[in-house]
Amino acid sequence: MTPIATIERLEQHVGQQVTLRGWIHHKSSKGKLHFVQMRDGTGYVQCVAFKGDVPDALFDALGHAGQESSLILTGFVKAEPRAPGGFEISVKGGEVLQDVEGFPITPKEHGPDFLLSQRHLWLRSKRQWAVMRIRDAIITAIRRFYDEQGFICVDSPIFTPAACEGTSTLFEVDYFDGEKAYLTQSGQLYAEATAMAFGKVYCFGPTFRAEKSKTRRHLTEFWMLEPEIAFAKLDDVMQNAEDMLCYVVKSVLERRRAELLVLERDVSKLESIVAPFPRISYDEAHAILEEAAPGQHAYGDDLGAPDETILSNKFDKPVMVHRYPHAVKAFYMKRDPSDPTKALCVDVLGPEGVGEIIGGSQREEDLETLLARIREHKLPEEAFNWYLDLRRYGSVPHGGFGLGLERTVGWICGLEHVREASPFPRMMNRIYP
Ligand code: 4AD
Ligand code: MG
Repeated sequence: MTPIATIERLEQHVGQQVTLRGWIHHKSSKGKLHFVQMRDGTGYVQCVAFKGDVPDALFDALGHAGQESSLILTGFVKAEPRAPGGFEISVKGGEVLQDVEGFPITPKEHGPDFLLSQRHLWLRSKRQWAVMRIRDAIITAIRRFYDEQGFICVDSPIFTPAACEGTSTLFEVDYFDGEKAYLTQSGQLYAEATAMAFGKVYCFGPTFRAEKSKTRRHLTEFWMLEPEIAFAKLDDVMQNAEDMLCYVVKSVLERRRAELLVLERDVSKLESIVAPFPRISYDEAHAILEEAAPGQHAYGDDLGAPDETILSNKFDKPVMVHRYPHAVKAFYMKRDPSDPTKALCVDVLGPEGVGEIIGGSQREEDLETLLARIREHKLPEEAFNWYLDLRRYGSVPHGGFGLGLERTVGWICGLEHVREASPFPRMMNRIYP
């Protein structure tokens, strides 16, 4: 019996016979030779079938089989420096499991709408293969980083009785007897509870925003990493975000070089992501914007997408913008004692014009102040009673942040639009497939 191998691990089998199981990515034939570019999910490899070397039935079947035909091939693994991936298979046997004709996605150019409607099949193409494998490496690196730092993963619920980030983008769910329920916008409030129980925690799951914006940065459903740290001040939160981002980028560079190459990503831009990142206050950011585009940004307003683009193009690393006016930020943020018009918050803007990838803050830990904020923001007090308990029983300074996974994948992969960073993106105008 020949061992079953994966393309990713072919280097362990040079000079041996192996069995590969997968699909035809591309095929060409020349007289007595078929060149099959095979993919098995882990990678791509060229398999060469010579008429005299394989059973006639297999040779004929390979002659027929179109793109995405499924097959099993047995053959010898040769090191082949000129081949993409560095190996080639001399086919000896095997079978075509399903002979496919007319796979909808061909090597020619297709428009984004067509491709999104074919997302279940589009995921098989090489670019999407590279993006999803990088997404996986980012998730793995995040989990490793927090594990190494002594954090506990404690997940937050998805059905919630109240808003976290404001009421304008909530999805209401009609199910719980007489009680209003929503899909979560952020797991933060629950992460604050678990931080008081476990010290250093993170949650990492899907979040939902009924955004009315159709931009290249917005999804309706996206994944968010949310660390929350007991006893942390704003500086600790920023430090953690910086350490985590450096760790993640380094890990992707180590583990997903080939995929970055497929995407034609300029890796030198990623190699320069090392600490320290620039830290600027909102006031400094406003001054930079006034100089670059006079009158574009009104002092006191949140930063808009064009403002973020200017700032993030100015630095070759993520830039941390801290201490925004509290009026444009969420109710739970602690105000800066040295300037009470500002919140102790930070947004991290990715480089190369990608805009905000992280939003975080130190949290208000005083019961009376927090209650006043909930009233100011006209939030339903009863729904926050449990949250206020965290300030009644052993309240401590604490803080954390949320990292948007798809925006991070988009940045690291150099994607034009976040929709390619999600396996099955959901947007205002897209729920299929
Ligand atoms: O800045 P946001 O709204 O912060 C929070 O939700 C905090 N409660 C997080 C926390 O402190 N635990 O969202 C955090 C990040 C943004 O920086 C962005 O990367 C991403 O989530 N994000 C989106 N990504 C894709 N599509 C959307 N519609 C997004 N909205 C936010
Ligand atoms: Mg934000």
